[in-house]
Amino acid sequence: MKEDNSYTEYFSDPDRVKNYAMEPPKFVPGFFDMHRMTCVLLSEHTAPKAHILVHGAGGGLELESFATFNHQWTFLGVDPALPMLEAAQRRLSHLNDRIALHHGLIADSPDIKFDAATSLLTLHVLNAQERQNTVSEIVHRLKPGAPFIAVHCSFPQDERDVWLNRHQAYTTASGIDSKTAEMGRLTLENTLHVLSPEQDEAILKAAGLKNVYPFYAAFTWRGWVGYA
Ligand SMILES: C[S@@+](CC[C@H](N)C(=O)[O-])C[C@H]1O[C@@H](n2cnc3c(N)ncnc32)[C@H](O)[C@@H]1O
Repeated sequence: MKEDNSYTEYFSDPDRVKNYAMEPPKFVPGFFDMHRMTCVLLSEHTAPKAHILVHGAGGGLELESFATFNHQWTFLGVDPALPMLEAAQRRLSHLNDRIALHHGLIADSPDIKFDAATSLLTLHVLNAQERQNTVSEIVHRLKPGAPFIAVHCSFPQDERDVWLNRHQAYTTASGIDSKTAEMGRLTLENTLHVLSPEQDEAILKAAGLKNVYPFYAAFTWRGWVGYA
């Protein structure tokens, strides 16, 4: 599987990684509430000791939320950007008996069956074909009926300016300085591969997920759950 790894480079910049943990709560409305909703959805369909695949685990923020929500869950986090994984390792050092990290792409990660999987704030770095391949690799690693939860940027493509402006205005209102907020808008506009919610949902279904439904919508962000 060929992947566009410009984002591995982006997340390998030491300054970006150093400050990373402070950013998502300012860019993503209800960031920690979304983590809690994800945990509730994971809990509904898993045994208490579930083994969970966390795709795009760099930084360790969701791993920390998940591991705190359920003290019996164990995890494999997968991410191709080493500095982001190292940041996760530092954040999660007190939890390392329950968390393993794989440096690399999902296609090269252990081919074992998990009880659940997530991909938060990550799939929008991949174009439609790469996203399809990646979601298929994740679904391939799930036990029958296991939930997969994806949250990333996704908004109507016939109203791009409206949503890009809202994203910039929200981040500015969250206290991000105006230059950084504008950079964020330009990244969303020109670098990330944002699709429409309909296209994203079709990718999840084409990977073999059933009962796919949206559970989270916050300006430019959307979240779905589906079952293998
Ligand atoms: C915006 S960060 C999100 C990190 C974390 N999931 C969170 O919510 O804070 C995007 C992450 O995706 C990772 N990434 C980039 N390309 C990837 C790929 N092909 N597969 C998995 N992760 C990837 C980056 O290295 C980075 O750690």
